[in-house]
Amino acid sequence: MSRLIAPHGGQLTPCLLAVDEVERAERLDEAVHLPRVILSELNLADLEMLAVGALSPLLGYQCQAEYEAVLETGRLLSGLAWTIPITLAVDAALAQSLRVGQRVALAERLADGAEDVLAVLHLREVFAYDKAREAQAVFRTTDAAHPGVARLMQQGEVLLAGPVEVLRLPRRAYAEFPDIRYTPAQTRAIFAERGWRRVVGFQTRNPIHRAHEYIQKTALEVMDGLLLHPLVGETKGDDLPAVVRVASYRAILAAHYPQERVLLAAFPAAMRYAGPKEAVFHAIARQNYGCSHFIVGRDHAGVGSYYGSYDAHHIFDDYAPQELAITPLFFEHTFYCRRCGQVASLKTCPHPREDHVVLSGTQVRHMLAQGQPLPEEFTRPEVSAILMAHAQGTWTA
Ligand code: ADX
Repeated sequence: MSRLIAPHGGQLTPCLLAVDEVERAERLDEAVHLPRVILSELNLADLEMLAVGALSPLLGYQCQAEYEAVLETGRLLSGLAWTIPITLAVDAALAQSLRVGQRVALAERLADGAEDVLAVLHLREVFAYDKAREAQAVFRTTDAAHPGVARLMQQGEVLLAGPVEVLRLPRRAYAEFPDIRYTPAQTRAIFAERGWRRVVGFQTRNPIHRAHEYIQKTALEVMDGLLLHPLVGETKGDDLPAVVRVASYRAILAAHYPQERVLLAAFPAAMRYAGPKEAVFHAIARQNYGCSHFIVGRDHAGVGSYYGSYDAHHIFDDYAPQELAITPLFFEHTFYCRRCGQVASLKTCPHPREDHVVLSGTQVRHMLAQGQPLPEEFTRPEVSAILMAHAQGTWTA
């Protein structure tokens, strides 16, 4: 029996159809003739997450009752913790052309305009929804300047629900980071092979700075292994691209991490910027990947000043201990302190703010644009060099 934590709900439920290549080809041929929905970037990320079992126990897009339960209670109809609705929005005209009971092909539009069918949705429900209500429940704001709210406001007016059979993964799953795009079953197999049981997961949408390294290694001190799990799905325009994020991790891993205690893997989700709700969502997904613990630092998955620095810690109090099998590890704001002579946090450093090296994202972008190297106390030189080259337009993957 595996010594690893069980997936959320008890078992992995990958929606990628386990059939041989002949049958897969037949199913794809057949799906070409079905009514078709073109998936957005967010949909493609969600589809890959469903396909690989990262969203276990979900089997597809949530029906209205389950959608309501997620918004109102932070739980599925079964009572299991779940904070972010997984839905498929289409415009009203397309929805009107579909009938419940029908099968619908889900497709990816490629750069050259061609369309690849990826999956079949068994349409069980079609329902209208209130975007402002969803925004308030998930993002705690209806402000259209919030990137998650903006995306929600732009999507279709009607939701399609039902189980999904994924026939093949989106192109990116083969083209981008194929060497580290491990599925939950694969990370679990690697953890088991390495004899890890207590595994801490780390979510990130940024290149690695010293503060990140500090909290990762502090956690690793009391764990068997560390899953570095940078997100590689869609992010907002001014976040650095995933290739730069992943390159910074590869560079620092080679130079500063114990290879046998760390696994770097790509997390295919898109960012929603839902702060606290997304922190719980991120934790549950990492449980599916086999993590027993999950790091939640300052303003996890936050954006602008929509969330308090530790709102993403407090939300875990909404769940009884037995509701979430994965244990969150909370970290306070972390920085280099000149008087401590090391990276420390508000919890461990007694010195005043003037001694702390703290740079905002805007300051970092400004320094790099000016060709000014980042302080070593803030970012390791291996990472700085990548960020500088990217900012100066001289970086190649
Ligand atoms: S996030 O949107 O993926 O949360 P980011 O990549 O910046 O953004 O953060 C990754 C993780 O590190 C999150 O848990 C976040 O709370 C934490 N974190 C980032 N910077 C700090 C910091 N200076 N101090 C404490 N925690 C931090």
